[in-house]
Amino acid sequence: MAASVLFAGLTTLDLVQSVERMPSPDEKVTALGQAISAGGPATNAAVTFSFLGGSATLLSAVGAHPLAEVITADLAEHAVRLVDLTPGARDAPAMSTIMVTRGTGDRAVVSVNAARHDLGPPPGLSELISGSRAVHVDGHHPRVARAAARLARDLGRLTVLDGGSWKPGTAELLPHIDVAVVSADFRPPGAETPEATLAFLRASGVRWAAVTRGPGPVLWQGPGEARPLPVPAVDPVDTLGAGDVFHGALTFALPPVVTDLTEDAFAGALGFAASVAAASCGSFGTRSWMRAPPGSDRG
Ligand SMILES: Nc1ncnc2c1ncn2[C@@H]1O[C@H](COP(=O)(O)OP(=O)(O)OP(=O)(O)O)[C@@H](O)[C@H]1O
Ligand SMILES: [Mg+2]
Repeated sequence: MAASVLFAGLTTLDLVQSVERMPSPDEKVTALGQAISAGGPATNAAVTFSFLGGSATLLSAVGAHPLAEVITADLAEHAVRLVDLTPGARDAPAMSTIMVTRGTGDRAVVSVNAARHDLGPPPGLSELISGSRAVHVDGHHPRVARAAARLARDLGRLTVLDGGSWKPGTAELLPHIDVAVVSADFRPPGAETPEATLAFLRASGVRWAAVTRGPGPVLWQGPGEARPLPVPAVDPVDTLGAGDVFHGALTFALPPVVTDLTEDAFAGALGFAASVAAASCGSFGTRSWMRAPPGSDRG
């Protein structure tokens, strides 16, 4: 049976356009290509986990606006089961407007986030968690994230955090997290360097921690010293969602129970995640890399 993981966090509707260069203020440019899909860290991680052969359940707020159908169709196409926190909501889903520069793969993102809803955990959360081998949270919907991580701990399930930025609720979440992989933009109070971020995470109770740095080496730490792990060099077409893909692949590669994690197993899982994330940088949008060999769809 496929490994089941519960992903809790943000879902957006991503409208991605490929541009020759970013427009200046008050300028119009013609897009070279477009892609529309569900987005958000937990959502893209769930889609990646499912693509790799896992059984992914996504706990997020999607709602019943006509645009929500684009999200549910994308999730269905990628065999991600949705548990909607706001099933009847009539307002539009969180939109993310994204421009990707052809040539560099750099992305500019404008988005609302989950802070416009203050949602609590749904009934049946502990059944969802007991049917999963791990819980992955991105820190959005902080009360849901905290409840899910705490229950997972109680039930002996592995907990994984994708830390995109330091948010309200992050400090309360960390004591329930086994594995935290955060981006360079994630700055705990007083942490000015990746080494200080790792030290902060470990002091907060996180056993296995890493900081991703785009094309730079991932810096990671378990019980021993912090160590760098180089990532594959790519000629990026689109780096949008690379961190989310990294998380889906990492969660797929981690052992089912945290006590089975060793330095070699953690470094191996990070290396696998980096190879899948590198593949995702090779084509435009957050889904086409799953269909096309790298480099065959250059926006
Ligand atoms: N230009 C790149 N070349 C190779 N690998 C990359 C590149 N950009 C990202 N990656 C891979 O994706 C991982 C995550 O990237 P990054 O640190 O940019 O994540 P992030 O800041 O969370 O981004 P996001 O969440 O917006 O996708 C990196 O550790 C690396 O493995
Ligand atoms: Mg990220």
